[in-house]
Amino acid sequence: MKKKVAIGVLVSGSGSNLQSIIDQIEAGNLDAVIYVVISNVASAFALERAQKHNIPAVLIDHRDFETREDFEQKLIDVLNSYSVELVVMAGFMRVLTPLFIKTFHHRIMNIHPALLPSFQGIHAQERAFAYGVKFSGCTVHFADDGVDTGPIIIQSVVPVFDDDTADTLQQRILREEHRIFPQAIQFYAEGKLEIVDRKVRIRDHTSIDDTPIHNPPLTRY
Ligand code: GRF
Repeated sequence: MKKKVAIGVLVSGSGSNLQSIIDQIEAGNLDAVIYVVISNVASAFALERAQKHNIPAVLIDHRDFETREDFEQKLIDVLNSYSVELVVMAGFMRVLTPLFIKTFHHRIMNIHPALLPSFQGIHAQERAFAYGVKFSGCTVHFADDGVDTGPIIIQSVVPVFDDDTADTLQQRILREEHRIFPQAIQFYAEGKLEIVDRKVRIRDHTSIDDTPIHNPPLTRY
């Protein structure tokens, strides 16, 4: 039987990314087991999603702690108590300090709804839309102690159309988040990720061809 990677998922909100990971595991497409889901927000729907699938769901409210480090030490203790190998940040809205990052060095993945390093931080889709970009997308990366700055594992590009709203763009990006996050975790589970400096290589993986894409399409040239 294939080895399954033990993951802990950190959430703050709806948990649609958590759901996509659960669904891919249950479909047999992702060699992982979710040992625990931790939310820092009591009302996060993600907690209900976890419970529905019989996954331990733990609330750790950051406001109950005096310092960021105290909060993170509690996260670390709970994750370790479940023997978590890979920490998956799926809409977890807290910036991590070096304490947490060092504890799980190169074992924390985050998803961001923009093509990093553009539009780091919150409300990325709205800001990309307001900026007038012709393409946006999403990024899964290893977390470091910056905001959305760690080594990039995989990105998905989506077009922006003239009749888009911030909302339709957000939905198009979210659909891709639900595809690339399980894929990034599967690469990890297969031991394929290799980090050199800040570049992540996927061992034994085919590369895309070099066809450029344009938005709007070219009429000449
Ligand atoms: C996603 O867009 C994610 O990229 C961002 O927060 C959102 C969380 O969505 N960090 P969900 O909780 O997974 O539905």
